[in-house]
Amino acid sequence: MPVYISGDQRTAYLSGGCVSYVLHRDEAGRLLNLHWGERVPDGSLAWNPDDYRTWVSFDLPVSLLPLELPCCGDGWYGLPAVGAVNGNGDDVTDLRVRSWSVSAGKPSLPGLPSVYVEDDGEADTLSVLLEDAVTGLRVTAQYTVFSSSGAVCRSVVLENCGSQALRVTSLLSASVPLWDGGLDVVHLKGAWARERVVVRTPAGEGEYRISSARGASGHEHNPFMALCDRKADELSGRVWGASFVYSGSFLASCRTDNAGHSRLSVGMNPEVFEWRLESGESLQSPETVLVFSPDGLNGMSQVYHRLYRTRLARGSWRDRSRPVLINNWEGTYFDFNEERLVSIAEKAREIGVELFVLDDGWFGKRNSDNCSLGDWVVNPEKLPSGLSGLSEKIHGLGLKFGLWFEPEMVSPDSDLYRAHPDWCLHAEGRARTEARNQLILDVSRREVQDYIISAVSAVLSSARIEYVKWDMNRNMTEAFSAALPAEKKKETQHRYMLGLYRVLEEVTSAFPDVLFESCSGGGGRFDPGMLHYMPQTWTSDDTDAVERLKLQYGTSVVYPASAMGAHVSAVPNHQTGRSVSLRMRGEVALSGNFGFELDMAALSEEELKEAADLVRRVKEIRDLTRTGTFWRLLSPFEGPYTAWEFVSEDRKEALLCVYRTLSVPNMPPLRVRLRGLDGGAVYRIVEDSAAEGSGMENGAGLSGAAMMNHGLTMFLRGDFSSRVIRLKAD
Ligand code: DGJ
Repeated sequence: MPVYISGDQRTAYLSGGCVSYVLHRDEAGRLLNLHWGERVPDGSLAWNPDDYRTWVSFDLPVSLLPLELPCCGDGWYGLPAVGAVNGNGDDVTDLRVRSWSVSAGKPSLPGLPSVYVEDDGEADTLSVLLEDAVTGLRVTAQYTVFSSSGAVCRSVVLENCGSQALRVTSLLSASVPLWDGGLDVVHLKGAWARERVVVRTPAGEGEYRISSARGASGHEHNPFMALCDRKADELSGRVWGASFVYSGSFLASCRTDNAGHSRLSVGMNPEVFEWRLESGESLQSPETVLVFSPDGLNGMSQVYHRLYRTRLARGSWRDRSRPVLINNWEGTYFDFNEERLVSIAEKAREIGVELFVLDDGWFGKRNSDNCSLGDWVVNPEKLPSGLSGLSEKIHGLGLKFGLWFEPEMVSPDSDLYRAHPDWCLHAEGRARTEARNQLILDVSRREVQDYIISAVSAVLSSARIEYVKWDMNRNMTEAFSAALPAEKKKETQHRYMLGLYRVLEEVTSAFPDVLFESCSGGGGRFDPGMLHYMPQTWTSDDTDAVERLKLQYGTSVVYPASAMGAHVSAVPNHQTGRSVSLRMRGEVALSGNFGFELDMAALSEEELKEAADLVRRVKEIRDLTRTGTFWRLLSPFEGPYTAWEFVSEDRKEALLCVYRTLSVPNMPPLRVRLRGLDGGAVYRIVEDSAAEGSGMENGAGLSGAAMMNHGLTMFLRGDFSSRVIRLKAD
């Protein structure tokens, strides 16, 4: 059992893999965290309050305790894990443990995305019931620990068992005290087309906070934060990661207190979240997945990758090879008709592409981004034989057919908006701020959810459609629902997310064979919440191969390659103006869910041949890249070289991908040390896209130990070059 409770019923050890998370209820009934880090034997720790006392203390004792659920008003001065204003107008909350219990498996979170188990033996859940004696607020803190990895899923349920309404002003999913201070913070920041840049910075004194108030997890910050030892790197050192399974506004923070201890907190963003909890009502927080690694950042990422690929993503596509696709967006933008689309599909078929995706512009009277969102009816001028006619033609070529939607949006110039002007988010008496000429539907409303479900379902039932790209192209403004009374208006953002999750649950279960890909102006909602419903996400609107190195590297800090859409686009690249060889564009994209996004019909015969060879290679390695253990070897943020590697679970196959941006004169060759191989096995090159200088040409073998401890030496020639080597063990 991964949860062990001590004989005196005071201490709970949640252990899995090489990790332990230890909780203690002290004599006063406070819930304390004794340890989160390398595994300790069950029953080995004792609570000693003196460890947390300072010699000359002006501070109140509570502010020094390693509290799991710090609240307001009793001497805790940081972010409250639970903040609730009661009928007297104060928010003093004092939670004491009433009981705890252990169960096998993991409960799902009603209405919210969450990690799951397939067998109750995979994990145990500790539920701790705490209560505030004055208000009657009950809090159940849930901790699920996975026995194989030690990952801990943490969430809370609030229940108002008092007689007066409570105004919940703060709700964190995790607030974990760490003994250590002087740590570094790692997080993923960005902007449109520049998502998930790896930031590493000393936590400093005081508080380091990232957040989104946008009503989406957002391009700017990913809902993830890790703390690590100053000396930790990709392969060694302690790392504590927290990833929030939610797609809306959030905050994550590292606070260093005046005793030098750190605290990692993740949860709802109080700037845009409030919830009125009537007597008898309850509120479930989203969950945070906590991963500790003693083996550096790669170790942490590998646990997230496996968990998110196999126990967060769901559905019939979770474990299947993803089709090689062609998407027409960068190839045509809005300028297409049936004939043009079919000619692109014909060329794509010739090189082995398996799926044709029709992007924005097929509905209403949409020929630019200024109208028709909400009117999900095909435009007969562009597509005279309708979606079903087009889909049949595409199927006739031997390709599957996919379609773009942006279901959460409405254009002011649309029949939907003319019929229901109050169905968008807005504040009474104020202008409705448009972005990309569009407004956001009020998905907190049941009738709006039902409209989206029926409109999308009607299209999906009207033709053979095997793939959906679910886009969302702006952030919230005037984020209020006309359907909520004044005292509940600040619930709108969270109610929107709950409504969206209901819509996604209904649509994805009604069309279980459709492959869904989420998107938000590229990677503006690349988060674990969306991955629960859709196993892949469009990584970024930036398709430039050089920029993609950083994008895919940064994304891999939390998310598996199986989640990343990666396309080859035309040169000069539409976002950067850079021209990169087709080989490098392809060899970057083959590390994710591979596709093309260009006008195939405009490629030369020579380019088509090269593209066909790429597709052949992708089909041979796509299961390895989807399921293999991913190792970051050289960082694009640190120099001209990037390298990463995939190793199959049985360690019999590996794929080494090496890239160089700008060449530097008079430099020695590069030596790359591989990781994760079987040291005793002999590996041979099955395919090498450059075949120069590895010393393993012509079938010569090299032991895994030599490859890991000595490395492979190689040349890469010229700017923007790449080399991909496939290895197999004898
Ligand atoms: C933003 C997406 O990221 C693009 O790939 C494309 O689908 C456009 N929206 C279409 O409007």
